[in-house]
Amino acid sequence: MNERTLPGTLDVIGPDTFARHGYPHAAWKRLREEAPVHWFDLPGGVGFWAIVKRDDVVWISKQPERFLNAPRLAIFEEGAPVEGERTLARHLLNMDPPEHAEFRKAASHWFTPRAIERRQPEIERITRDLLAEMAGDGSERTGDFVADLAAPLTLHVLADMLGVPRADWRLMFRWTNQIAGASDAEYQTGDDPINSVEDARHGLFAYFTDLAAERRKQPRDDMVSVLANATVSGAPMPAFELLSYFLLLVVAGNETTRNAASGGLLALIEHPGELRKLRATPALVPSAVEEIVRWTSPVIQFCRTPVEDVELRGQRIRRGDSLCLLYPSANRDADVFADPDAFRVDRRPNPHVGFGIGEHFCLGANLARLELRAIFAEVATRLDSVSLAGPVERMRSSFLGGVKRMPIRYRLRPA
Ligand code: HEM
Repeated sequence: MNERTLPGTLDVIGPDTFARHGYPHAAWKRLREEAPVHWFDLPGGVGFWAIVKRDDVVWISKQPERFLNAPRLAIFEEGAPVEGERTLARHLLNMDPPEHAEFRKAASHWFTPRAIERRQPEIERITRDLLAEMAGDGSERTGDFVADLAAPLTLHVLADMLGVPRADWRLMFRWTNQIAGASDAEYQTGDDPINSVEDARHGLFAYFTDLAAERRKQPRDDMVSVLANATVSGAPMPAFELLSYFLLLVVAGNETTRNAASGGLLALIEHPGELRKLRATPALVPSAVEEIVRWTSPVIQFCRTPVEDVELRGQRIRRGDSLCLLYPSANRDADVFADPDAFRVDRRPNPHVGFGIGEHFCLGANLARLELRAIFAEVATRLDSVSLAGPVERMRSSFLGGVKRMPIRYRLRPA
């Protein structure tokens, strides 16, 4: 291994790299091959170990008592806000056992395969309504796939589940963009990403304080009612944790599926043979969706902190060090995936970790799969032609692979 030729920190985790070029797959591949557990200093901040192999991501994620979530949520380029992030919110992603499971239980029955299946007709209807707008009379059109389908679909589905009235959806949309896009000038409310998050958090907390109070008086069949009336270890859920729960659901539910949908269509545009395959065999939609999640890996990373010294692939990791689990890299690991840099809608098996694994496995995975299946089933059967009509614009973030705009030219058959 020649350390001097290895990629630098910002080539591996830098938000500008993501914004300009998309994911640095070549840099991650070099790490997987030459330095799979490698320490990076972070200019102006606390450094981290890059964990780039799938088996290592799995090994660490499956030991939640040994590798904690609470000390550091993720690595941010600025080095901060390790302290800041802890005081901003307390939710599933920065809790650890045994507390984590208690809080997760409060919402998990809303996300079981059965519970999500019941939402299928509604999700398919929302998808078809949005596509009807896009299709027009079936002639060739141009539009922005993010604004026309990916963003409104995920927003609508989540707002309905939470029980947020339609008039307030634009507020939710603004807050989620401001929090997820805190490092991107387009969404920032000040010079400092923390100010953007703080600003959005205040708005969101105030809003859900009122909505939760309403639902305590008059519960409905929605998630705000369930959480507002939930107990944890026999007592009502504390206000800060309750509001943080809403913040997590709003951001996690919007910023991920939206990007998987846009990135998935982009992958099909860039691999016309795979789009043809999907059109010829729409039964491939479920496996295509898994491949889309593997390929796009919308969550770039989360961090774990060991409670004791550990050795991994010959590296001595100290208690309290930060381990950065890079999901998109794990999902291209040649030790696990045959021909990992090929996008294949019929890939099987596909043991990707795009939704994470273990204790914190994505709570919304069943919902995300259903939304993506609804979209790509229609794409497989009705999209007669599609190509890019301009550059894809990506979000500046070290954390989420965001697609801000994706102009397309297309012909969509009316239903
Ligand atoms: C394609 C879409 C999605 C992707 C790629 C994704 C990815 C992830 C990942 C990587 C994690 C961390 C897992 C770990 O640490 O092992 C996670 C956790 C989580 N996700 Fe998702 N997610 C998606 C959609 C959603 C949706 C639609 C919702 C909710 C409506 C959601 C809610 C959550 C929650 C609440 C957690 C925290 C779980 C915990 O800590 O116990 N996600 N997600």
